[in-house]
Amino acid sequence: MREIFYRMLIRGILLAFAANILLMAQGDPEAAKMKNPVASTPESLAAGQQLYQRHCASCHGKNGQGGSGNDLIPPAPNLIDAEWKHGSTDGEIFKVIKEGVPPELNMEPWGDRIKDPDIWNIVNYIRSLAKK
Ligand code: HEC
Repeated sequence: MREIFYRMLIRGILLAFAANILLMAQGDPEAAKMKNPVASTPESLAAGQQLYQRHCASCHGKNGQGGSGNDLIPPAPNLIDAEWKHGSTDGEIFKVIKEGVPPELNMEPWGDRIKDPDIWNIVNYIRSLAKK
């Protein structure tokens, strides 16, 4: 009797873990609804490129291919493949850049240093990299 109880308890805990991982991989439904207000014009891409190369390339790579990380920071993910741990829509990517990825904040929030329209420019630029 006792053994069955423990088995059910462990199964419950495992299920809760699995559900949590699924939820995390789903990104952010609220942010996903956000529409990108900045058209992907040559001007937007040029502005995005400048900011990306200055602030992001050191970790995510010059071409968005991802980085190897170091003792302090885990590898920064590839931004030009189809895999998006925190959501693949423009709105979700915007939110990750603006607010960072809590709780570790290895991906730090940039909202205090980069204005919203410029964050959208970076989103547009990342998209353009992925298409090449
Ligand atoms: C100090 C290194 C570092 C810098 C600088 C940095 N990032 Fe990140 N970034 C990370 C790490 C590490 C992660 C993974 C975070 C996690 O999943 O916990 C990440 C995650 C992301 C993600 C989510 C990727 C996914 O798969 O969902 C995006 C988008 C992103 N970064 C964009 C940017 C942009 C744009 C900039 C520049 C404004 C930038 N990052 C600057 C380290 C960095």
